Amino acid sequence: MSELDLYSMLDKLVIQGGNPLTGEVHISGAKNATLPLIAASILSEDGLELENVPDVMDVRTLLKAMERLGAIVDFQAETGKLLLNTSKVRPDEIPYDIVRKMRASVLLMGPLLGRFREAHVYTPGGCAIGSRPIDEHIHAFQKLGADHRIESGFAILRAPKIKGTRILFDRVTVTGTENTVMAAVLAEGETVIDHAANEPEVADLCDCLKNMGAKIDGIGTGRISIEGVPTLHRTTHKVIPDRIEAGTYMMAIAASGGNGTLTAVNPEHLRIPIEKLVEAGVTVVTGKDTISVEAPHGVHPVDVETSPYPGFPTDLQAQFMALLTQAEGVSFIKETIFENRFQHVQELNRLGARLKIDGNRVIVRGGTTLQGAEVMATDLRASASLVIAGLTASGTTTIHRIYHLDRGYHNFEAKLRSLGADISRVSD
Ligand code: EPZ
Repeated sequence: MSELDLYSMLDKLVIQGGNPLTGEVHISGAKNATLPLIAASILSEDGLELENVPDVMDVRTLLKAMERLGAIVDFQAETGKLLLNTSKVRPDEIPYDIVRKMRASVLLMGPLLGRFREAHVYTPGGCAIGSRPIDEHIHAFQKLGADHRIESGFAILRAPKIKGTRILFDRVTVTGTENTVMAAVLAEGETVIDHAANEPEVADLCDCLKNMGAKIDGIGTGRISIEGVPTLHRTTHKVIPDRIEAGTYMMAIAASGGNGTLTAVNPEHLRIPIEKLVEAGVTVVTGKDTISVEAPHGVHPVDVETSPYPGFPTDLQAQFMALLTQAEGVSFIKETIFENRFQHVQELNRLGARLKIDGNRVIVRGGTTLQGAEVMATDLRASASLVIAGLTASGTTTIHRIYHLDRGYHNFEAKLRSLGADISRVSD
């Protein structure tokens, strides 16, 4: 671990709660679209150019993995431009220390298999929110003709050739769908993927692959058809806005009783979260690429259940819970995607929330004035929910282990400060 990594591990956020958030916040490119797009560059021998790439730790980690594979990476973080030269990429090993930091490194399997017909990626472990198996990914690769075995912890995939086939996922998997599409675009013949994930990030990957010469139909639906082509070529692709970052700021503005506008965002990607906020009494006005939010009269209780797109995203569950601690009355939040995504509950209760876990749902008894305290971030989106709670709590909230936050939010505290939050990053 580099010294920088070590120091950032000790960073904490200190928040003086109570300031309403007002003003404008620019939404960055989507982390969960950028990661598969970076991996997809492997499929073209003359590389790929991406725009609107967010400067977050997960992107930096994946770029390190790309360099280990022989890619030449030029990331201009200030403009969001990323040039990937993949002419010298080889299917080298993706080691434990990279996969340990970011399990989305599994997204390298599909394109390595697609272009080289082999991949050596350390098997990803679970994480704070669940066991996160990749059995659906492996099953799809085997259906496409790959042999799979585990050797000293590495998933070794090899295929004499990749032949198009029909693939039916037992459960919706975002990166499983993305990995399968990337393994199939250079296959011999047609691949049909049924029960595919249709998140906007999957569609963004498919749009980019089409511009690279792939033949893909059914983009944005649950059934994706791919006609294999011999090669793909370079293109320039702009990453879609980050709907989860956007939803996080919407909930922070609403929880603070403020009045703010998000820019460079796609409201269509947030239809259900917007409907839920309106149901909670928040005023939301959408423009072509803006969303304005205000909640001058507080919020009231709402029940929500997470589900695959276009349902309420699991990645906004923790943030919505922090908001609902301010609602006068009882709300029920059900998590149906991950088996352990309530790590933030005990931390929110330390701030005075009254939350009770009941199986895969949480009962939120709202109307509590939160009191600042020392709390600990446990995973990316849980960290964001603690920030939202700290912004509304009275007194000082200190959030430890905010390296979780840095994985997926660019300049989080600076953007919040520009909205009027009293928040600073302190190194222990
Ligand atoms: C993606 O993870 C996102 N990550 C996650 O965002 C997001 O929470 C998740 O999709 C759901 O929307 C990226 O896109 C990089 P899944 P992914 O495969 O693809 C089970 C964030 O905060 N499953 O759709 O790993 C799995 O255990 C992150 O940015 C299998 O059982 O999620 C889970 O319960 C967190 N076998 C469910 O399916 C498999 O082979 C959905 O997982 C694959 C998944």
